[in-house]
Amino acid sequence: MLFRPQKIVCIGAGYVGGPTMAVIADRCPDVQVTVLDLNAERIAAWNSDTLPVFEPGLSEVVSRTRGRNLYFRPQAEGLAALAEADIVFISVQTPTKTAGEGAGKASDLQYVEACARLIAEHARGHTIVVEKSTMPVRAAERIQQILSANQAGGTFAVLSNPEFLAEGTAIRDLQQPDRVLIGGEDPAAVVALKSIYASWVASEKILTTGLWSAELSKLAANAFLAQRVSSINSLSALCEQTGAEVSEVATVVGADSRIGPKFLQASVGFGGSCFQKDLLSLIYLCEHHALPEVAAYWQGVVDINEWQKRRFAEAVQQAAVNRRVAVLGLAFKKDTNDFRESAALTVCRALLHSGCEVVAYDPRVDGQRFAAELGNPAQFSLASSAAQALAGAGAVAVLTEWEEFRSIAWASVKLSPGATVCDGRNVVDRAAVQQAGFRLRVIGSAPD
Ligand code: NAD
Ligand code: UDX
Repeated sequence: MLFRPQKIVCIGAGYVGGPTMAVIADRCPDVQVTVLDLNAERIAAWNSDTLPVFEPGLSEVVSRTRGRNLYFRPQAEGLAALAEADIVFISVQTPTKTAGEGAGKASDLQYVEACARLIAEHARGHTIVVEKSTMPVRAAERIQQILSANQAGGTFAVLSNPEFLAEGTAIRDLQQPDRVLIGGEDPAAVVALKSIYASWVASEKILTTGLWSAELSKLAANAFLAQRVSSINSLSALCEQTGAEVSEVATVVGADSRIGPKFLQASVGFGGSCFQKDLLSLIYLCEHHALPEVAAYWQGVVDINEWQKRRFAEAVQQAAVNRRVAVLGLAFKKDTNDFRESAALTVCRALLHSGCEVVAYDPRVDGQRFAAELGNPAQFSLASSAAQALAGAGAVAVLTEWEEFRSIAWASVKLSPGATVCDGRNVVDRAAVQQAGFRLRVIGSAPD
């Protein structure tokens, strides 16, 4: 008979672990799902009315499932659940290493390895261990090594099940994924994990591959997406010089069904916790395997992104008539409270470095945490509305495509005379800005 897992544990209650487990619990009411984290504050937030992650639709899913078959527990209190689990997901961070071999490029697997050690110590019977975190190719070998070196009588099967959700659309992506990927060499384990997703995902969308292909496919998918953004961003600079309009070019290029229209929105540069980290991990792997040409190809995607952020910051700096800049949007994209690797971090740092005063507004980001990330500079302050940030500014930098920035009533905004609105997302109402008498610079359009 088909083995239907009854108990799932996920280590890591972050942007991936929390929403993913909430959707599994929602779609598999017969399965008990426990999410563990070392960060007790984060767990307390998951158990409160103010979830630590903002995602459209998330609070509805959590309120249906929490206490029914979804539990958030501090790690130390969840070890019994770990012992009983049929499946343990590892969903902890895999950031770029900051020290040691591969620093600045390779993924830091210390958090994943700590999870593997914890599982080896506490799991009982047979446990399917699932890499949900994004890993370099062949990382599963290291997990297998740790599990077999430490096991206290338990047996393990390791699978790779990378997550493709994007922030801001996580719940929709989880409920209606383009595909679910399961990589592994143990057919029974693959079938067991597949049975969980098959509760709501059509079987033709559940792709199964070898372990190494699954690990590499995740890095490859992010690299391809980031490459599209850098491609259109590289052309945005040419558009600004020539009078071509990047949104028109993107529409024409994307109308080719072989190319498709998505991920061709020129911007101030991609951000988020994944694209750069995963590109760097891919680059490191290529270098490690003596493929410098391949590494250089993907490095170009990172370099264009850095250049795009810098050149936008310089344009704002030059436009700032009175050295006071209003920054609208700190999140790395709309509909999330996440500012990891956000273009806003680079742009704010550059503006502050050049002596500008920055007044920032974002509808969802915790501004205090953002300021702390910048080192709490005296010249950086927070506004509680776009209008408040804009008052008296000599330049405006629109860095996130929040819907509310589309409908700013520019006629009633009190910018400094001669101020320029620099739109890094092509969201502001151009006619309204110009009618209000302000100058306008939009990424990928010739300056007016
Ligand atoms: P995150 O930083 O939001 O969450 C990770 C959580 O793991 C944190 O709460 C941390 O306290 C916890 N943790 C770390 N070590 C632990 C340990 N030993 N025991 C218990 N808890 C521990 O990270 P995230 O954004 O959820 O990303 C997780 C993984 O998923 C990464 O590999 C990332 O690349 C990948 N991923 C992220 C996204 C995304 O959109 N954020 C999408 C797809 C894949
Ligand atoms: C990405 C992948 O999309 C997702 O599949 C993976 O699981 C995690 O990494 P995420 O980083 O959450 O998701 O958001 P995404 O929508 O991919 O945007 C990444 C960055 O690219 C954002 O800063 C966004 O504003 C930027 N972007 C995206 C553009 O500048 N232009 C575009 O056309 C698309």
